Formats: sequence, structure tokens, C-alpha cells
Amino acid sequence: MTPTPAGRLAGQGVVVTGAGRGIGRALALRAAAEGARVVVNDLDEEHAAAVAAEVGGVAVPGDAATDEGVRRVVAAATETLGAIDVYLANAGIDTTPDAGTGLGDGLAEGAPTSLDTPDAAWARMLEVNVMAHVRAARLLVPGWLERPEGPDGAPRGRFVVTASAAGLLTMLGSAPYSVTKHAAVGFAEWLSATYGARGVAVQAICPQGVRTAMLENSGPLAALLSRDSALEPEQVADAWTVALDEGRFLVLPHPEVADYYRMRAQDTDAWLGGMQRLQAKLDRSV
Ligand SMILES: NC(=O)c1ccc[n+]([C@@H]2O[C@H](COP(=O)([O-])OP(=O)(O)OC[C@H]3O[C@@H](n4cnc5c(N)ncnc54)[C@H](O)[C@@H]3O)[C@@H](O)[C@H]2O)c1
Repeated sequence: MTPTPAGRLAGQGVVVTGAGRGIGRALALRAAAEGARVVVNDLDEEHAAAVAAEVGGVAVPGDAATDEGVRRVVAAATETLGAIDVYLANAGIDTTPDAGTGLGDGLAEGAPTSLDTPDAAWARMLEVNVMAHVRAARLLVPGWLERPEGPDGAPRGRFVVTASAAGLLTMLGSAPYSVTKHAAVGFAEWLSATYGARGVAVQAICPQGVRTAMLENSGPLAALLSRDSALEPEQVADAWTVALDEGRFLVLPHPEVADYYRMRAQDTDAWLGGMQRLQAKLDRSV
């Protein structure tokens, strides 16, 4: 797709991590359609190349989570784009035993549960779902703060985290996913609180189920939870562009998440009671 000269991101240099498929691919396509020059990152080299071709951008394959990996992605993207204006830290994983990965095999009697998730899987999820964002922001924010202010209050740089509704609420069946996505939202909030007034725009995208490979592989509980409400990745990109127009931090492709989030804050015990009833219902049906 040839970027249009106009658009919400006209001429901007945009990096999307984990963009070889799913939500990242949809965000990369949308950024290109909004006039951006796009760098497509993914661990999967072939997928990154295919999406880069689709968006008329450049593939920078590699691990966007380890310290060395993030440095490589940011350096290669900066060389390609001249400067990174928007960084979409989208890559994320769920490796809990009940996420259909087989990681819990042999760990517990009967069906392994989230509590059986090995430390190594917790560590990798912390790395990809949280530290990836910290490491990228560490490299990008100091340079953004030194840039001149954009015209009409345009941000000096934009950092977008694909978190999850699990980061505002919880995800039944996956402790590390819930915990790391809460941390991802917490880091994005901190970044916005600290640098927002100095021209760094920050957003957290928090969908519930989205029809991607991750949802397909997410085990019976998550599949059951998302069966009726799952969105297409393009709808997540739609919600992001609306939030860009409205200058909003929180991007909620499923608007009902705002109600659940409000309920959780207003009466946490009542909200937890509801979650416990939902878990009991799921225990009976899976
Ligand atoms: N699908 C959903 O229901 C859903 C809901 C809420 C939030 N999310 C979040 O959205 C993001 C994208 O999820 P998706 O559903 O498109 O997943 P997906 O598994 O379909 O795609 C994720 C892509 O990220 C890549 N990736 C994984 N680790 C990487 C790394 N370290 N470096 C570079 N690339 C890496 C994978 O190779 C894959 O191509 C994730 O952060 C996920 O947690 C997904």
C-alpha cells in the first residue's frame, strides 16, 4: 500500500513491534494508510517481510524485548526512518500452561493451571510484555525531549503500548498475563504522567478478545470468554485512530471495558465477587 501524503500520521516514522500478524499487522497497515513511513518488526522474519511489503515499509526482524534486541530494532529503525516519531510496542505473549503451549506438561497432577507456570515462562512474559516497553522508552524518550515542540501542540514523540483489558481488569486463567499487562498499563501511565506535559504522548491499547493467532492458542477458558465479543484486528486499529483524534491515553476497542473498570474501582469486592462467579461458571463448562 502506498502511503497517502495526507493523513493523521503524514510523513511520520513509525515502528510497530510484533507486526508480522494480528493486531500489530493491523496497526502497521493503519499507520501506512495514515501516511506514515513504517518499520515492521517481528521475531518471524518471513512474516515481517510480508507485512513490510504490504505497507510499502521496511522489515526489521528480531526480538523487540531483550535489551540487545530492542537496541538493534531502535538503531535499525532510526537509520531507516531518519527518526522514530511513533513507537508502537505491540509484541506480547502468553505462555501459561493453560494457554495451549504445553509448558505445563509434567508439572502437575491433572490439568496444569496458571499457578504451575514455570519461573522461566514468567520471566519471558515479564521481558516481552513489560521490559520491552521500558527498554524502548529508555532509548527513545531522551531524544524526543530534546526535539523542538511540534506545530500546533503536536507531540515530540508518541509511545503506544498494546496492553490488554487484562491490564485494567484481570484475565481468568492466566496469572502472568494479568500481572504483566497490569505492569504494562502501569508503566504507560507513569510515562504519560512524567513526560506528557513535556510533549511525549502515550497511549495504552486495552482490548478484550481479538481474532488473532494468540486468541486461537489461548486455551479453552480464554476462548470461551471471548467467543461472543471478539473483534477483528482492524477494529483495534479503528479504535486507535479515534483515540488519536481525541487525544486519549486509553484505547478501548471494547467500550464495555470502561464500565467494568469503573465497577472495579467503585467496589472492588463486588467486582471480585462477579469474577469469582464467572470463574465458577467456566469451571463447570470447560
Ligand atoms: N488477541 C487478543 O485477544 C488480544 C487481546 C488483548 C491484547 N492483546 C495484545 O495484543 C498484542 C498483539 O497480540 P496478537 O493477538 O496480535 O498476537 P499474535 O500472537 O497473533 O501476534 C503477535 C506477534 O508478535 C510477535 N512477537 C512475539 N514476541 C516478540 C518479540 N519478542 N519481538 C518481536 N516480535 C514478537 C509474534 O511473532 C507474532 O507475530 C499483544 O501484546 C497481546 O498481548 C491481544
